[in-house]
Amino acid sequence: IRKIAVLTSGGDAPGMNPCIRAVVRTAIYNNKEAFGVMQGYQGLIDNNMYEMKTRSVSNILHLGGTILKTARCMPFKTDEGQEIAYRNLKEREIDALVVIGGDGTFTGALRFSKRYPDIAVMGVPGTIDNDLYGTDYTLGFDTATNTVIEALDKIRDTADSHDRLFFVEVMGRDAGCIALRAGIAGGAEAIMLPETETALDDLINDLESSPNKSSSIVIVAEGDHHGGAYDIAKIVKDRIKSYHTKVTILGHLQRGGSPSSFDRILGSRLGYAAVNALLRGESQKMVGLRGNSIVLTELEEALTNHEFKLEDDLMEMVKVLSI
Ligand code: F6P
Repeated sequence: IRKIAVLTSGGDAPGMNPCIRAVVRTAIYNNKEAFGVMQGYQGLIDNNMYEMKTRSVSNILHLGGTILKTARCMPFKTDEGQEIAYRNLKEREIDALVVIGGDGTFTGALRFSKRYPDIAVMGVPGTIDNDLYGTDYTLGFDTATNTVIEALDKIRDTADSHDRLFFVEVMGRDAGCIALRAGIAGGAEAIMLPETETALDDLINDLESSPNKSSSIVIVAEGDHHGGAYDIAKIVKDRIKSYHTKVTILGHLQRGGSPSSFDRILGSRLGYAAVNALLRGESQKMVGLRGNSIVLTELEEALTNHEFKLEDDLMEMVKVLSI
């Protein structure tokens, strides 16, 4: 391996910049050249990449988003798009690629690397959703959860002052990790997740039977089966007597912000590990954190293994702690 390129793809996540910094500096430390690809796979197709030096990544550790920008790139899903990307990489003699993103990013990388095995690829899990097999945490999840908790604390103040019931919708199209963790840390009365069916009758009973509660917060992951916080609030509103209901959608503010110390350290460790794995000759794998150890998982397995699931014991605990 002589030249390593790095890109970010899919939804941005706080911690991507610390990871880019780690990739670039670990490559240069090992006497390799580092390249940054702009706008994810689109930059490979548009030949929009540049050599990065040690100082190209100065003062980015604390920045949210990604200095390389990101995109969801349709042309890279086609054979023609992949061929152009390959030619552009070969012209610059780039022989390894670190891709930071989620499952869509890894799907693209794996397909590319199977077609063109002379370009080694290493995945780094970067998504606020924390929904990838092969790592306990993905980049951005910790920061996003902290952002949600901060918002919940503020909502609680006004909910309490007005004796209101708030439905707060958080991100998680297919995964309820943010909802679950933020719900526990923010003291939600109930948490509604894509992974579990919450019966609205039970929810209404619980809300009405909580003794002496004047205000309540229910967290709804956007992927919940009932269709989102507005839909749920509409149903509950007519049937609940003791509260006025309100809805807050936190939206994309969950994706921004300075990465937490956890995400800075995780981004640094994963970026460093990704380059070292490439230098050892590894390819078509994802670096992840399990316990406190860095582990490698085949991209194929990371994409197909759905063993990953939310902890049932945490849901049980929420029921107990919210009485
Ligand atoms: O980053 C993951 C995620 O936030 C999902 O939870 C969400 O549904 C999706 O991305 C929305 O992203 P965008 O609006 O950028 O398509």
